[in-house]
Amino acid sequence: MSLDPSLASWLATHDARLLDDLGAFLRIPSVSARSEHKADVARAAEWLHARLARIGFAVETIPTPGHPVVLAEWRHAAPGAPTVLVYGHYDVQPPEPLELWTSPAFEPTVRDGRLYARGSVDDKGQVWAHVAAVEAHLAVRGALPVNLLFLVEGEEEVGSVHLAPFIERHRERLRCDAVVISDSAMFAPGIPSILSSLRGLAYFELNATGPNGDLHSGMYGGAVVNPATALARVIASLHDPDGRVAIAGFHDAVRPFPDAVLAQMRTLPFDEAGFKRELGVDALFGEARYTTLEKLWTRPTCEVNGLLSGYTGEGAKTVLPGKAMAKVSCRLVPDQDPETIHRLLERHVAAHTPAGVTITVTALHGGRPWRADLSGPLYEACARALASAFGRAPVIQGEGGSIPVVGDFERLLGVPVLLVGFGLPGENAHAPDEWIDLGNLRNGARAMAALWDELARTGL
Ligand code: BES
Ligand code: ZN
Repeated sequence: MSLDPSLASWLATHDARLLDDLGAFLRIPSVSARSEHKADVARAAEWLHARLARIGFAVETIPTPGHPVVLAEWRHAAPGAPTVLVYGHYDVQPPEPLELWTSPAFEPTVRDGRLYARGSVDDKGQVWAHVAAVEAHLAVRGALPVNLLFLVEGEEEVGSVHLAPFIERHRERLRCDAVVISDSAMFAPGIPSILSSLRGLAYFELNATGPNGDLHSGMYGGAVVNPATALARVIASLHDPDGRVAIAGFHDAVRPFPDAVLAQMRTLPFDEAGFKRELGVDALFGEARYTTLEKLWTRPTCEVNGLLSGYTGEGAKTVLPGKAMAKVSCRLVPDQDPETIHRLLERHVAAHTPAGVTITVTALHGGRPWRADLSGPLYEACARALASAFGRAPVIQGEGGSIPVVGDFERLLGVPVLLVGFGLPGENAHAPDEWIDLGNLRNGARAMAALWDELARTGL
């Protein structure tokens, strides 16, 4: 069975109105990281709540100590039909630097078949694809072929810290046969994909302090330790020359990827020259014995995300800064865990900190890595649904980014998780000029409409 023509035709007929809806969602600046946007984040939750209620879901917006969770349920499928939970997030990353946007971040704009706006690909557009798919079913047939729950949160971009306790508290209500998530990208244009893994994350802030304030670099320099230099030395010590993380014990828990997964990875048509061109770099980097895709998907990292110290204004100022700060985060692979990595990093930093300065390591947030077992009806149904909507079978791919809650769903609900995304590499998630390809957005909605029929037919 492929995509039901009546669903496809409903989606095509209502395309303009559906995209207008998405425009309204994208106009809400739901930046979860910024307290001044708290009301906007709440407004995005309300918008989604109203949208799902309008098409026939029983919806509740449930507060958390942070931003609310929108939980919507439709449980009227035929007896024995599977129950699926769709997860997504309605929060977005901060839009800065604003001056680098061609059109404003929260004024959705279409150019060349691309929809530009913060949240277009990550993740409002992909949530919209799911909403459009269920709306098509309900409008055409008055019913869904499976029971569906939507759990859409507002804190993914700040680490989903309140979501695991939420899932635990509502475990009974969230009981389902599978979780489906669209918050990722396809392998390449025209090539849909199903994810086989995600990296985890452990995010830290390093604060170096030395003298009790900024000093004259002539009067004191050379005799007093410079916290900026000390922090730079610590940062430099995090890697071997070829880019391998040099924190003692860091790789101890790394479980090799199965040979079959690695072999399959090598069959993917990865265009390394195109990758470099797109990024504007003339060389790549990293551990020599791994391919680029292996480095991105199967190897752990430690990256500096930000650095702050001393005088950075116009002209020169001869100062020996009293403090320095770095944001550092590690991408993790199975079976590394954020807590152990925190301990190891603390030990490493302590061992590389010179006398005269103090460097503290504070954990900000984290998430476990994840690897799928891609056998079973869920993945087969999805492969067929993608093929019918995109006109070609999906590839299996890994992913270097993180979605902290994926491991929690598996652990707390005991069900398989399917990651199927409709973005593309290069769509500027988290950066200025974020966009999503309108063709993929539409095909994503078609694919998810087909998926529910496939799952109803084969069961789970
Ligand atoms: N949608 C991304 C995760 C992602 C990125 C999937 C790239 C596939 C490709 C998600 O919104 C995200 O940005 N996650 C953060 C996690 C963090 C803030 C805890 C990430 O990966 O940095
Ligand atoms: Zn994101």
